[in-house]
Amino acid sequence: PESITVQELANRMAEKGADLVKALFKMGTAVTLNQPIDQDTAELLVEEFGHRIQRVSEADVEIGMEGEVDAPETLKPRAPVVTIMGHVDHGKTSLLDALRGTDVVAGESGGITQHIGAYQVTTKKGDVITFLDTPGHEAFSEMRARGANVTDIVILVVAADDGLMPQTIEAINHTKAAGVPMIVAINKCDKPEANPQKVRERLLSEEIVVEDMGGDVQDVEVSALKKTGLDELIDKILLQAEVMELTANPDRQAEGNVIEAQLDKGRGAVATVLVRKGTLKVGDTFVIGAESGKVRALVNDKGQNVKVAGPSTPVEVLGLSGVPLAGDQLTVVENEARAREVAAYRQEQATKKRTTTAPTSFEHMFSALN
Ligand code: GTP
Ligand code: MG
Repeated sequence: PESITVQELANRMAEKGADLVKALFKMGTAVTLNQPIDQDTAELLVEEFGHRIQRVSEADVEIGMEGEVDAPETLKPRAPVVTIMGHVDHGKTSLLDALRGTDVVAGESGGITQHIGAYQVTTKKGDVITFLDTPGHEAFSEMRARGANVTDIVILVVAADDGLMPQTIEAINHTKAAGVPMIVAINKCDKPEANPQKVRERLLSEEIVVEDMGGDVQDVEVSALKKTGLDELIDKILLQAEVMELTANPDRQAEGNVIEAQLDKGRGAVATVLVRKGTLKVGDTFVIGAESGKVRALVNDKGQNVKVAGPSTPVEVLGLSGVPLAGDQLTVVENEARAREVAAYRQEQATKKRTTTAPTSFEHMFSALN
């Protein structure tokens, strides 16, 4: 069951079957169009062709929620989504705060930035970067396990006075598993005992070779405290993003992922959603995990009410039937009846899952996007 034919994979990626066969041949596998390839090989191919892997559950296929692939001509550039990871106390929060301090938009409005687990920074040159305030490595891998591969770039924070620590290694492994490019931010370089070179050397044994050492992983010396190296870090993020040619179709019904969600006393169930594709609008009817709703209000990371939110934008969504889980997908649907139908189906599925341990099939797993 854990296979797909070359032709079928080609169709899902909107690529020529022959090109896939060629690529496979280069990888040392000789197959014909109608031959099945295994999951790992398929994933490699998808990445090789610059597509993203989207895992679609069988349940979603069953209820017609597997999503549509956007035609290449509908795709427009979008902001990179960046997650900061690293060992405890190495300065993740400090660095996020320092980077947020560089936001020209927040500076102009003079408003207090609201904490919604994700925020956007507009650089001096006008580029936009979305940062995710990761609550921890576990959440990162759990979200990934739930199919929410929302991060484009990981910033690995390593304190230059402390070096590589257990959670640094953990973060490296999660990043590698996710297949996400990494930028190393060597922090606390203001400290007299800081030894950034030692960090770079130690990274070699984790098979991370920074540019100075002849590799292709970007690194930058920073001090979140003294606010040094921040512009350089931003430049490197933008450079990495440029290479990745990140795009999404903004002109369609929105899809996004829950970053965090809670029950708010005054406002009811609230979810911070990162819009992945399309544009989410006030009044839209949606399914969000096993919950449904109609967008009553959208609040951006500056605490302002907005009418719409496009790709790579984090927003708080109000108007949910209940609290969804982190990583859950939000999908705008045509009407409330449909939203309730899908939510009910998913709740039923979730109950079933709790009572039986059904075997998973990977048959519907591959759907290539972007
Ligand atoms: P956890 O969220 O607990 O894992 O920690 P964190 O990685 O978010 O670290 P945090 O930003 O809370 O910083 C930890 C400590 O290091 C704080 O006391 C910071 O003031 C200090 N710190 C952070 N960045 C720097 C820096 O660039 N230089 C110096 N000297 N201290 C720093
Ligand atoms: Mg922190």
